[in-house]
Amino acid sequence: MLKRTHNCGELTAKQVGETVILNGWVDAYRDFGGLVFIDLRDRYGITQVVFEPDQGEALMNAARELRSEFCLGVKGVVAKRLAGKENPKLATGEVEVRVTELSVFNKSATPPFDIQAGDANEEVRLKYRYLDLRRPELQQVFVMRHTMNQVMRKSLSDQGFLEFETPILGRSTPEGARDFLVPSRLHKGHFYALPQSPQLYKQILMMSGMDRYFQIARCFRDEDLRANRQPEFTQLDVEMSFVQDEDIMTAMEPLVANLAKEFTGSAPTLPLPRIDYKDAMERYGVDRPDLRFGVEIHDLADIAPKTTFQVIQIALSNGGRVRGLCAPGAGAKYSRKDLDGLTAYVGEFGAKGLIWLKVEDEGFAGPTAKFFPAEVQAEMKERFGAKTGDMIFAVAGPEAVTHQALSNLRIRLGAELELYDPKSYHYSWVVRFPLLHWDAEEKRYVAEHHPFTMPLPEDLPLLETDPSKVRAQAYDLVINGEECGGGTIRCHDPAIQARIFELLGLTPEQAQEKFGFLLSALSFGAPPHGGIALGVDRLVMLFAGLTNIRDCIAFPKTARGYDLMTGAPGEVDFKQLRELYVRVVE
Ligand code: AMO
Repeated sequence: MLKRTHNCGELTAKQVGETVILNGWVDAYRDFGGLVFIDLRDRYGITQVVFEPDQGEALMNAARELRSEFCLGVKGVVAKRLAGKENPKLATGEVEVRVTELSVFNKSATPPFDIQAGDANEEVRLKYRYLDLRRPELQQVFVMRHTMNQVMRKSLSDQGFLEFETPILGRSTPEGARDFLVPSRLHKGHFYALPQSPQLYKQILMMSGMDRYFQIARCFRDEDLRANRQPEFTQLDVEMSFVQDEDIMTAMEPLVANLAKEFTGSAPTLPLPRIDYKDAMERYGVDRPDLRFGVEIHDLADIAPKTTFQVIQIALSNGGRVRGLCAPGAGAKYSRKDLDGLTAYVGEFGAKGLIWLKVEDEGFAGPTAKFFPAEVQAEMKERFGAKTGDMIFAVAGPEAVTHQALSNLRIRLGAELELYDPKSYHYSWVVRFPLLHWDAEEKRYVAEHHPFTMPLPEDLPLLETDPSKVRAQAYDLVINGEECGGGTIRCHDPAIQARIFELLGLTPEQAQEKFGFLLSALSFGAPPHGGIALGVDRLVMLFAGLTNIRDCIAFPKTARGYDLMTGAPGEVDFKQLRELYVRVVE
């Protein structure tokens, strides 16, 4: 075998005159009659290799047989490229290898898509994932992912955290999604659940005195998929003893800063800003605001009595709200047709309409401007800090609709009006989420994060009187409008934990049946503890500047949960099912 002496990203003018051996794949092939040029590619880069007639007929004939993606070994002499033929885009662009010996390790069938172009439809790319993964852009993502794991391990080990492995076959931990179940062969009719997260195991490790835990953990959630969700994904899972919420955030910040430094070249100033959940909802309409730009939402209820605009009056009298935001410079940007488009866009989030007011020297312009008397216009301009050329948008309706419509409109305007540098990063914590919300369909409370979260101490009495008002010791890490992590301080007091189970609709017997081991462990001197999990795939996605989580996972599933390469999920033999006491029914 022609075993490599160098990789394909390594040769420079320093090696000119040396005899070297390279191994790799044919990235591009150019036959100029007399000469054959090959771009040879491996994970490290591309090197041009040349076959010249003076090396003999046999070698030239063999070179002419080469095609894209053949896997080769070549031996040759490093030479400087002819003047003017250098390629400054390649690290190896000054040189080429003049081939004296060729070994074809393996031929390749014609690839089903152009690997260099990388623009094939995603289904084909996923089916032939091994070829897709040969693309340098994609390989770089996995180099980055590897580095990320190293930075995480080092940052946490340096702070005294121990790395653990918790079971994959376990008992279901409710994190709000459906479980993937695994039938037990030895225990008829019993099932393991794949972990939605290692939540309870890591809490138990704190009760065992392990003090500081981390794990790069695979989690499984059977939920509807989106661009930023996969049914199996990876978390950096962390837990600490004897801490309050601030301690967890403070412990995670150096790690976030290290990642930022490594992947963006600049670390954020610490401590990161903390934003109250309530503030985030009020000012940005969402619990994960993109703070790369301003454009805050303002309430307009107080101007209602001074306008004759029915839409506003009706919304308010139905217990709704009227709120708006000001888009800088939007006045000249949007045509009537664009504004119809924006109206349809907020309609997708339930808004019955979009009020738009163009700010001009003489006053507001637009079909609804007439409803806003001059004094109201002046007040609104001041509230939004609006200038001539801006545009004020407002939505009236139920509170949740104003949140959704305006937060999404804000994000769209931010991108369309180029209100921020898309390559910039903004990191923040959103804190003090509600503990529970009322599920009208199920007629019970549902945990906002998960059932093991501790209320704020001052809100504990509300557990008895008004549970939906209880705030949690919970915090989410938000980067550029993406939820990249979430955690809470846990209930280490069995009585509070039991009360929360009760609010979630579990009878004491059900709580005992499902979480008896936790309640029991809590009764043996459990320490105050809390933790967090960061979404590793999402972090890679953000730092790599990607928009789809599938590109950060080596073997991802489609939006329908298929692995197109292996064909999973697949059918299994009847015999296998019988052993598991499982029968498929229509
Ligand atoms: P949470 O459910 O918020 O918390 O998950 C933590 C982070 O994991 C990422 N994430 C996902 N990434 C890809 N695909 C998914 N389907 C997916 N679901 C979640 C997100 C999210 O912020 N046990 C708690 C943590 C704790 O309290 O310590 C938990 O799992 O980035």
